[in-house]
Amino acid sequence: MCAERVARDEFFRRIVEGMRCGIITVDAAGNVVTVNGLAREILQLDDRTVEGGPVTDVLATQPRLAEVLLAALDMNHLPNRAEMEIRTRDDRGRTIGFTISPIASDGVPQGIALFFKDLTQVERREEQERLRDRLAALGQMAASLAHEIRNPLAAIDVTATLLKRRLRGESGETLRLVEKIIDEVARLNGTVTRGLEFARAIRPELTSQPLVPILEAALSEALARRPDGRSVRVERRFDETTPPVPVDANFMRQVFVNLIVNALEALEGRGTLSVSLMPVPGGHGEPIAVEIRVGDDGPGIPGEIREKLFYPFVTTKKDGSGIGLAMARKIVECHHGLIDVTSGPGQGTIFRVRLPLLPDPPPEA
Ligand SMILES: Nc1ncnc2c1ncn2[C@@H]1O[C@H](COP(=O)(O)OP(=O)(O)OP(=O)(O)O)[C@@H](O)[C@H]1O
Ligand SMILES: [Mg+2]
Repeated sequence: MCAERVARDEFFRRIVEGMRCGIITVDAAGNVVTVNGLAREILQLDDRTVEGGPVTDVLATQPRLAEVLLAALDMNHLPNRAEMEIRTRDDRGRTIGFTISPIASDGVPQGIALFFKDLTQVERREEQERLRDRLAALGQMAASLAHEIRNPLAAIDVTATLLKRRLRGESGETLRLVEKIIDEVARLNGTVTRGLEFARAIRPELTSQPLVPILEAALSEALARRPDGRSVRVERRFDETTPPVPVDANFMRQVFVNLIVNALEALEGRGTLSVSLMPVPGGHGEPIAVEIRVGDDGPGIPGEIREKLFYPFVTTKKDGSGIGLAMARKIVECHHGLIDVTSGPGQGTIFRVRLPLLPDPPPEA
């Protein structure tokens, strides 16, 4: 029995060792469990680099990768796919494309697994072309679908408005039904417009700048959109030592506006909204990222949508389009950042956005 198990373990070990992508696994305490051959080769880790040590030691030459792995350990929503620029000993930059998967046993988190590939120039170009083709096709389909939907919608709107005019003097109930048609048409139009915005390719232009003015602008814009937010207590916790970050100010403001508006909508005019900004120290103490948190002490995120929160069109609001968080995630990932949420019924909600200080050139999203 025992021999059988040893043989099976050896079999699995060989699978991992022989896989055609780099694999690193980390346990819940932040110690490296597995580094396969290709991972050592791509990251140029020397053979002495032993498994079992803390990830910041094993990956001492790749602090950003270590940081992504540590951050992923306490995330509920891992990014689908990301790219990162790494430095190798020969000082030639390389790009790796990676995904991170949780490792869990009976729903209890045990650690994470990083799967990555070295995207050499050729592979990278091919991959980008494929991605661009896919996104262009998707954008085109969204645009023609929107066109097909909008025309009949406009006709319904005109007809219902005419009907409403004719109904002047009719019973209140019939008029209300027609008004409902007009309202729903306007809502669907809004959803189509925001859906199109989401499908469109974005190209953020990153310039290093302080985040406080962007956060303040986002707060003002969100409060203008939700005037009932003026009776909410707003707590600002901005750590003054936070360094400037490479961001596209317009896109990043949009992320914060979406998060703050959601918080104000959850608070319905009562409670506390908190906005924080802090540096994230790397292995040697110097900041390698910044973190922004938008929190509220509202009712929390309904359990049934928690898993698909960042998908487009997921909403629980009567007038919501469900694009806000999907758009926020798309923008943050174009900045090579991470977005995550913790929330529980009656415990409020905290969204966290982490932005690296040294991003790669932005991907063509
Ligand atoms: N701070 C929060 N507290 C409670 N629930 C939230 C919070 N933020 C988001 N949610 C939930 O997540 C859903 C999706 O949010 P998202 O911003 O993507 O769309 P939306 O706000 O419904 O519509 P819109 O496209 O107008 O932003 C919301 O409908 C709401 O149920
Ligand atoms: Mg929203």
